[in-house]
Amino acid sequence: MENCAELLNQDFCFSDDEREALYKTIFNRRDVRGQFKADAIPDDVLSRILHAAHHAPSVGFMQPWNFIVIRSDETKQKVHNGFKEANAEAAEMFEAERQDTYRALKLEGIIESPINICITCDRARSGPNVIGRTHIKTMDLYSTVCAVQNLWLAARAEGLGVGWVSIIKQQTLKDALNIPDDIVPIAYLCVGYVSHFHKKPELETAGWRKRLPLEDLIYFDQWNEKRNANEENLIQQIESDIGFAEQFIQYD
Ligand SMILES: Cc1cc2nc3c(=O)[nH]c(=O)nc-3n(C[C@H](O)[C@H](O)[C@H](O)COP(=O)(O)O)c2cc1C
Repeated sequence: MENCAELLNQDFCFSDDEREALYKTIFNRRDVRGQFKADAIPDDVLSRILHAAHHAPSVGFMQPWNFIVIRSDETKQKVHNGFKEANAEAAEMFEAERQDTYRALKLEGIIESPINICITCDRARSGPNVIGRTHIKTMDLYSTVCAVQNLWLAARAEGLGVGWVSIIKQQTLKDALNIPDDIVPIAYLCVGYVSHFHKKPELETAGWRKRLPLEDLIYFDQWNEKRNANEENLIQQIESDIGFAEQFIQYD
């Protein structure tokens, strides 16, 4: 396998072990709903994952995020009630034969996880004109999602599980957390140590959806151009790397 050190021999290259640790983190990250343990998260660990989130990229360096750290049982209960209401509505939206599967899925760990974190987006954080956001206004929302992903990966590196709960009305979340009208809640995350990490997405194991083949999702130069004579090497490489992720996955 070619790598940065062999190709460039620069001191910004990571060692093989460091690179592998990153891939290990990415491929072993899971959305966690059901295996939370009550163990407290030490403040230094929590601090590190929040720092990781805060170092996410953001459009025009806007840093539009805030992080609401939630430990209060009362607040969690309000959010959980909001989830239950929305989840009952959600089940009805799927075709009849999928509703039973849907209802059997556990889609949150709000109460069991010791900490919940709500990551929000302040759309006006750096004034009306933001570098990079002049034409696509939603870039601030995407930036906040980058912070979510940073936190999710850092948490996995720390051995913490994270589960994203999005089955809730935004207004319910705003009311429960006293979030002002002009602030958008982006992610409601359940965070805690876990008994184990699943090897595969739970939705895959439950037969809800499979991972799509990567080669079907890559186009060349134009939308829907799947084959391109100049790209045969890359296509073959992607196909032969089919087990790349699996070699890093250790647990179940
Ligand atoms: C924007 C977003 C919202 C999500 N909302 C929920 C949710 O409400 N409940 C849930 O159980 N999982 C939720 N998930 C987790 C996905 O179901 C999960 O990422 C996907 O099934 C792949 O599994 P993995 O994260 O373990 O790889 C959400 C993920 C994302 C990125």
